[in-house]
Amino acid sequence: MKNYYKDLKLTKSEIEDNKHREVVGGLWEEIGKLQFDFLVSKGLKPEYSLLDVGCGALRGGIPFINYLNKGNYYGIDINQYLIEAGKRELEKAGLLDKQPNFLVNEGFQFDLFSRKFDFAIAQSVFTHLPLNVIHRCLVNIEKSLKKGGKFFVTFFESDDKFNLEGISQCRDVITFLDRDPYHYHYSVFPYLIEGLPLKIEYIGDWKHPRNQKMLCFSK
Ligand SMILES: C[S@@+](CC[C@H](N)C(=O)[O-])C[C@H]1O[C@@H](n2cnc3c(N)ncnc32)[C@H](O)[C@@H]1O
Repeated sequence: MKNYYKDLKLTKSEIEDNKHREVVGGLWEEIGKLQFDFLVSKGLKPEYSLLDVGCGALRGGIPFINYLNKGNYYGIDINQYLIEAGKRELEKAGLLDKQPNFLVNEGFQFDLFSRKFDFAIAQSVFTHLPLNVIHRCLVNIEKSLKKGGKFFVTFFESDDKFNLEGISQCRDVITFLDRDPYHYHYSVFPYLIEGLPLKIEYIGDWKHPRNQKMLCFSK
């Protein structure tokens, strides 16, 4: 299955022109603040370690890094150019001294960070992934969460498991059962974690402008 983000390349001048902000979906300030405010409302503290799965160019990363204590932010992404763009954003925001950690990685190998996390988030990531890839992510996150740790995930929802048609989620996004951007029936997520020491909570609406819903997996 082709992953758009895996093959994406950005030149230095495209990064200078902020093309990366559009590539991750635009609404840079709004969706950055939305995910930051949401995690703080769920109890994120400066002393927590945070794993940003599919961190991209740090739309959420910048407010998170600003808030967290030095060294507590960990970003992982499949695309090296988006992480490069994120480092440029970090420099512009004057946050290099916060010493965030980054990894370019395709297989959700969170153990390469050699630590466990209090909180993790995947914002607009499962919306681009087929179910078997999501399964890999969930199996691996369980190994990298502290006991009591939480993994917040957004997804596009389908209310009808047997609907094969596209769903209009908002003015400019149609989602699909079997191609990017994907929608899922909620029931697939409890199925994927069956047998793992994880619990799932359906949070649902969290005021995402494109109607992405929120889930929480906790250990
Ligand atoms: C729509 S962007 C969202 C980025 C970021 N979470 C944000 O809110 O701006 C989706 C991100 O998921 C990343 N991604 C896609 N597949 C991935 C994978 N298998 N492992 C890690 N990151 C992945 C993409 O490279 C991209 O940065």
